[in-house]
Amino acid sequence: MIDLHSHILFGLDDGARDIDESIKIIKKMAEYGINKVIASPHFMEGVYNNKIEIIKERIMILQESIKREDIDIEIFSGAEFYMELVILDLIKNNDIITIADGNRYVLLELPMGQIPICSEKILFVLLTKGLIPIIAHPERNHEVIKDPKRVKEWIDNGVLIQINGGSLVGRYGTTVRKSAERLLIEGYTYNIASDSHSDYHPYLFYKGVKRAEKLIGKEDVDNMVNKNPEKILSTSV
Ligand SMILES: [Fe+2]
Repeated sequence: MIDLHSHILFGLDDGARDIDESIKIIKKMAEYGINKVIASPHFMEGVYNNKIEIIKERIMILQESIKREDIDIEIFSGAEFYMELVILDLIKNNDIITIADGNRYVLLELPMGQIPICSEKILFVLLTKGLIPIIAHPERNHEVIKDPKRVKEWIDNGVLIQINGGSLVGRYGTTVRKSAERLLIEGYTYNIASDSHSDYHPYLFYKGVKRAEKLIGKEDVDNMVNKNPEKILSTSV
């Protein structure tokens, strides 16, 4: 499987604290069937100002360790951008980090509470620049919980929806689990990811995938964890 969302890079955000923790998470990923993973540390202005150079440097260090330990997993670069106006500056200055450096897909984080007013503008600018936004875990957002159709308009405009595997097995509570199930059953979900911050998340991801298979069938879930992410990884413009 391909995991499009993880915080495996040590010391860059609230994910892995050190290289040992990074390796622990990666080992669990391999154990639970992930063979490709996007390292997507948070980007939040003034809190996590991660740049592509440091992301690539950490990936290189980890890849060395993975080789030494004979773990079968490939790591690609990425970032998870908090939905805030600074994204528009990053686009303007060519500083936006795309998934696997493909210049096409951008992972965006919605806050848990309100959908920020700037969201529409950010999505519009990304789409008009030929970039495809992927919205991470909308099932955890209060407005989407109240009205799952909120994501429908985004999808109609070309935005992709990603849910967390852990959401489907109750990691964030019953309300979020039900919300994730709705996004899955309604056909709004493009991808399921682990959003790993610790070595427990790969297991949750695996369990979430199994739960999704029960809900919508193996073929659709295979698209969400293999075929769709493969398309994203192989796109480069
Ligand atoms: Fe995340």
